[in-house]
Amino acid sequence: TQRTLVLLKPDAVRRGLVGEIIGRIERKAGWSISALELRTLDQETLEQHYGEHKGKPFYEPLVEFMASGPVVALVVDGERVIEGVRALSGPTDPIAAAPGSIRGDFGSIVRENLIHASDSEESAIRELKIFFPGLS
Ligand code: GTP
Ligand code: MG
Repeated sequence: TQRTLVLLKPDAVRRGLVGEIIGRIERKAGWSISALELRTLDQETLEQHYGEHKGKPFYEPLVEFMASGPVVALVVDGERVIEGVRALSGPTDPIAAAPGSIRGDFGSIVRENLIHASDSEESAIRELKIFFPGLS
């Protein structure tokens, strides 16, 4: 099975959507949460996490937004969770996301799109090391 890193972004925490979003993940058959933490991200962590986007026009506002309040970081284990949480989330732009997906149901702004989930096995390994270095 797989393991993925999920971040409930500051908008999700501010809007009281943490329970709703975690509930959707939790209800998937065979998936489980193996770590969970409320945390305010510092610049260094965000630079590591979003390094691939450095230099792009949306990078600075993205990092500022991600540091604007606490996030909920969680580790999810289970069958095809990497692809699975991305599917639950919907596409990056919430307006393009179908109703029934997290972004489609609750989002309208590209930057404030509620949730991050690792996009590949390689990203998951890299991101899990940044957020939960002690996890075995
Ligand atoms: P993450 O899970 O947060 O990594 O989202 P993603 O994988 O769906 O998108 P991507 O990694 O390409 O971009 C990271 C984040 O930058 C997105 O979630 C958006 O918040 C923001 N972002 C990406 N593309 C754009 C864009 O074209 N405009 C703006 N304003 N923000 C963007
Ligand atoms: Mg991404």
